[in-house]
Amino acid sequence: MQDYREFLKDVLITEPELQARIAEMGAQISRDYQSSTLHLICILRGGVLFLADLMRQISVPHTIDFMAVSSYGAGARHSSGQVRITLDLKENIQDRDVLLVEDIVDSGFTISSVLKMLETRRPASLKVCTLLDKAERREVPVPIDYCGFVIPDKFVFGYGLDMDEYYRNLHFIGTVDPTRYQPPETGNERQTGESG
Ligand code: IMP
Ligand code: MG
Repeated sequence: MQDYREFLKDVLITEPELQARIAEMGAQISRDYQSSTLHLICILRGGVLFLADLMRQISVPHTIDFMAVSSYGAGARHSSGQVRITLDLKENIQDRDVLLVEDIVDSGFTISSVLKMLETRRPASLKVCTLLDKAERREVPVPIDYCGFVIPDKFVFGYGLDMDEYYRNLHFIGTVDPTRYQPPETGNERQTGESG
């Protein structure tokens, strides 16, 4: 496996910038959900680092749950439009104030499908919190209630976001120099079209 320094182009968002913004977002969410039954739903796997840091900045009592989705149309870095649930929620969301926690909204297909699926389960409210918004690439409109950073149309990795499933552990968000990146040879390529 390559060391990320071999293909890192730029650090787009540093660790202190991420943490400062997440603290602001947590404070805002805490104000907005003072008298609610806040239930955070993290979309695996990209959102886990963000969820873990965000929830520690939320001062109101809340619960968490996880779901995973995959897009039809395998192997792509971009989702295809149709999304199915590969890991469903543990808990019922009826009458709860649900806040979806995502790493990045790109075309918008993933979040918009997830919103449609969750709406049928009749939550009291359903809102979206994303760390990153690649707004230029939007193909389907998505209501974003909390957004960390609007970023340019570049492939990014680190802080939960992967390159062929690796490098999620990095403390910052970086951009890739595709001419210097070598995908892993076997084993961990995205063969299922798993999203997130
Ligand atoms: P969308 O359905 O096109 O909005 O894509 C959302 C999903 O695509 C995200 O949850 C990520 O898993 C993935 N994705 C989109 N852009 C990037 C990126 O720049 N780096 C890593 N993953 C990305
Ligand atoms: Mg994701």
